[in-house]
Amino acid sequence: MRLPALASFVALTTAAPAPVPSLTPTDPAPGTPVQLKEASVSDVAYLGFATLNGGTTGGYGGNVTIVSTLSEFTAVVGERNTQPAIVVVNGTIVGDAKVRIGSNKTIIGLPGSGFVGIGLYFKNQRNLILRNIVSSFVEAKNGDVLGIDGSTNVWVDHCEFYSSLAADKDVHDGLVDSTHGADFITISHTYFHDHWKGSLVGHNDRNAAEDQGKLRITYANNHWKNVNSRGPLIRFGTGHVYNSMATAINTRMSAQVLVQNNVFRGVRVPVTSRDSSQVG
Ligand SMILES: *[C@@H]1O[C@H](CO)[C@@H](O)[C@H](O)[C@H]1NC(C)=O
Ligand SMILES: *[C@@H]1O[C@H](CO)[C@@H](O)[C@H](O)[C@H]1NC(C)=O
Ligand SMILES: *[C@@H]1O[C@H](CO)[C@@H](O)[C@H](O)[C@H]1NC(C)=O
Repeated sequence: MRLPALASFVALTTAAPAPVPSLTPTDPAPGTPVQLKEASVSDVAYLGFATLNGGTTGGYGGNVTIVSTLSEFTAVVGERNTQPAIVVVNGTIVGDAKVRIGSNKTIIGLPGSGFVGIGLYFKNQRNLILRNIVSSFVEAKNGDVLGIDGSTNVWVDHCEFYSSLAADKDVHDGLVDSTHGADFITISHTYFHDHWKGSLVGHNDRNAAEDQGKLRITYANNHWKNVNSRGPLIRFGTGHVYNSMATAINTRMSAQVLVQNNVFRGVRVPVTSRDSSQVG
């Protein structure tokens, strides 16, 4: 009776030796910054709505091209090229243009790099990552700083977008605007500042046919400062706005927005539903 019991015990311990608990604490002291991972050009979206619908991988697996002029940039991101490509922006590219970007791109800036005066436009495409880009002073004729028009799976991360409140309200349009049934978007760790019309989701109260049930968008860990309106403004869509230094959220016309863990400073009405015939 006792021998078989012992034999099976030995067999069990041989197959799976018990781990020896370490007696030395390895956790850093509370408050010590811990770097979990360095950013890399092949990162893919890991938070929010951009992780759904097959995920947002941008140019993952594609060639890496470093660009520092507008023509080098347009040559690799153009709509005709939907092959995955990783485009590294080196320096500030200044211009007066609206650049249409094709599917499957990661556009990532070296520290401090980005665009001045150049609107990025992502129309009816899929799978774009825009990271570490500083972009400013895009005139309205060149669209928004980033226009996401009818496109799905977009991740904007660690960017900085701005213009100036000294300009007339209509000189510049939006910083990041999502329209025409755009869907599965995450905007994270981004600094929106000094601008009139911050970030719009859904452009028109009469556009239910295209927008209802779409425009799913996450705004996470962002910082808004001196943005006059649209921080963000959402029609029809489903929004999640969290962990942000926020301006004012207008959830209007049939939108639903979950607002969590934000700090509103110097804002009279942080969350509202106004200017539409239906509340959000
Ligand atoms: C990557 O670059 C190589 C060499 O220029 C080229 O042959 C290949 O087609 C490129 N791949 C993609 C996905 O663009
Ligand atoms: C995006 O890339 C995927 C994977 O390479 C490819 O199957 C798809 O056709 C590309 N999208 C477009 C619109 O070309
Ligand atoms: C970026 O551009 C600068 C100035 O032209 C150059 O010195 C540097 O090597 C470039 N960096 C990369 C990674 O290409």
